Amino acid sequence: MAARIVAIQGSMDRDSATAALVRHVGGLLERSGAKVDYVDLREVRLPLFERATAHDVSQYREIVPVIQEADGYVLGTPDYHGNPSGTLKNFMDYFWREFTGKLFGYLCISNERGLSAMDALRVAVRQCYGWSLPYGVCGVSGADVDASGAIISESLRSRLQMLALDMARYGELLGGERRKDLAAAATHPTFLAVLRKRKDTNGTAAG
Ligand SMILES: Cc1cc2nc3c(=O)[nH]c(=O)nc-3n(C[C@H](O)[C@H](O)[C@H](O)COP(=O)(O)O)c2cc1C
Repeated sequence: MAARIVAIQGSMDRDSATAALVRHVGGLLERSGAKVDYVDLREVRLPLFERATAHDVSQYREIVPVIQEADGYVLGTPDYHGNPSGTLKNFMDYFWREFTGKLFGYLCISNERGLSAMDALRVAVRQCYGWSLPYGVCGVSGADVDASGAIISESLRSRLQMLALDMARYGELLGGERRKDLAAAATHPTFLAVLRKRKDTNGTAAG
């Protein structure tokens, strides 16, 4: 089964270069045969996460099935002081339960390679028992992505292509193994056993 990937855009800027990266990778993923959904956090306005009210937000409910059914996620963020945007982190606070056993790829717009911002995402994903691609892809606004959102750097284009192919391939592999693992006996002691034990799960960790 082709990988189901959600491409998440974490800048609030109207002319966001991060959005251009996420769109570009989404197109490449579609061309690789993956099923792609887009969550642009400029449009899906999640209030600051608050445990008591998070589940009453209508926009949250609309994207729940998309997030739940994914095999993997592309997280796109601007570099804000060496970290991901608060907007993207806020999204993760809502959905962390869905991340167990799924694949993540990272995109960043930064003037400084975005390593610490993408590493922060990697750490958060690790805490949720998600898998990460071993690299991320960073572009510089202006130099690599022009004002119209076109990717004008050949080296960036080729890294984005690599990320799309790897997300499609390893997303499909991990998704298949995850489903097999979830169908195993309740006592089979892999890390996904925690999901099998939840009454509400059909392969996801909703709730
Ligand atoms: C609050 C804030 C903090 C930022 N911190 C950094 C930084 O630490 N390093 C960096 O390279 N760029 C930093 N930038 C620049 C952004 O990464 C840059 O504006 C980027 O283009 C934003 O992406 P966007 O167009 O998708 O919104 C910062 C911008 C803002 C608004």
